[in-house]
Amino acid sequence: GTVLGIEGTAWNLSAAIVNEKDVIAEVSDMYRPPTGGIHPREAAQHHAKYASYVIKGVLEEANQKGVDASQIDAISFSQGPGLGACLRTVATAARMLAITLDVPLVGVNHCLAHVEVGRWKTPATDPVTLYVSGANSQVLAYRMGRYRVFGETLDIGLGNAFDKFARSAGLGHPGGPQIEQFAKGASKYIPLPYVVKGMDLSFSGLSTAATEALKNNSMEDVCYSFQETAFAMVVEVTERALAHTGKNEVLLAGGVGANARLREMLDIMCTERGAYFHVPEKRFMGDNGTMIAYLGLLMYDSGNVLDIENSHVNPNFRPDDVDVTWLPKDFE
Ligand code: ATP
Ligand code: FE2
Repeated sequence: GTVLGIEGTAWNLSAAIVNEKDVIAEVSDMYRPPTGGIHPREAAQHHAKYASYVIKGVLEEANQKGVDASQIDAISFSQGPGLGACLRTVATAARMLAITLDVPLVGVNHCLAHVEVGRWKTPATDPVTLYVSGANSQVLAYRMGRYRVFGETLDIGLGNAFDKFARSAGLGHPGGPQIEQFAKGASKYIPLPYVVKGMDLSFSGLSTAATEALKNNSMEDVCYSFQETAFAMVVEVTERALAHTGKNEVLLAGGVGANARLREMLDIMCTERGAYFHVPEKRFMGDNGTMIAYLGLLMYDSGNVLDIENSHVNPNFRPDDVDVTWLPKDFE
């Protein structure tokens, strides 16, 4: 099959066309906030303004590769989780496109799309996935017909914790890459609150404590200590999910996955446990249209489509609410 998918849960609006073999085309346009963080309403306005640009663009790009609109079997979109206004804008565009092309509509869980594109584009088969982005931080793994959430943040996502600190420290947005750079120049570790509750995580207090620590310490040392503490927390929960499930693969997903120190720490943990560690190409790690088109394709192929009347978005859509129709019943 061939599916056109649209992602727009947050700042990145991205449309892609994929088939079982590969990505045929992808066109994205990012909303860049003039100052500070993301303003939901402005991001939604951006998506409304550029929806036709990314959709037309991806259709044209596919056309140049010999795939035209009449060959598209379904339209998929991010049903959630994400910013309500952004989700609604993208859902409206997806519904219109499905009606125009007279093809089924598929509603995709954004978190599971990160997992499935990673399974597609790396050798991972049945991994424990660490998904760390701006808004999300989750440890996911498949068990008995569902992707279960083994651990997750109780407050903000790790990326947002970095961004919040960066903003209060007068660094620009996004914070993650700058914190990574500063951390390289550190000379010592400053103890910061390490908060793992059961299998869950909390980053809000850590971000505030890092800001406080700037009063008496260098930017380099604080950035380094923030990273070491936060990454040790997510690695701990990932390792315990591995032990609990008996799986032997880790997949990294989400924008924070760009961080070399996080990759190194996960790699060391996996090596020590005799597990495989998989990192997709960067373009498949942050939010992208390809992952929505690809999970849309898996769902379409397994008959998992939506009626237009039931295609409401869900800003709190949980990955463990999704019945995994696209994997064999005896998968695992
Ligand atoms: P989602 O909707 O899934 O929450 P998002 O809109 O936050 O996604 P992503 O591209 O997945 O988008 O992630 C962006 C986040 O990743 C930002 O918070 C940014 O600070 C963080 N980030 C990017 N590069 C790095 C890095 N090198 N180290 C740490 N964090 C990083
Ligand atoms: Fe994401």
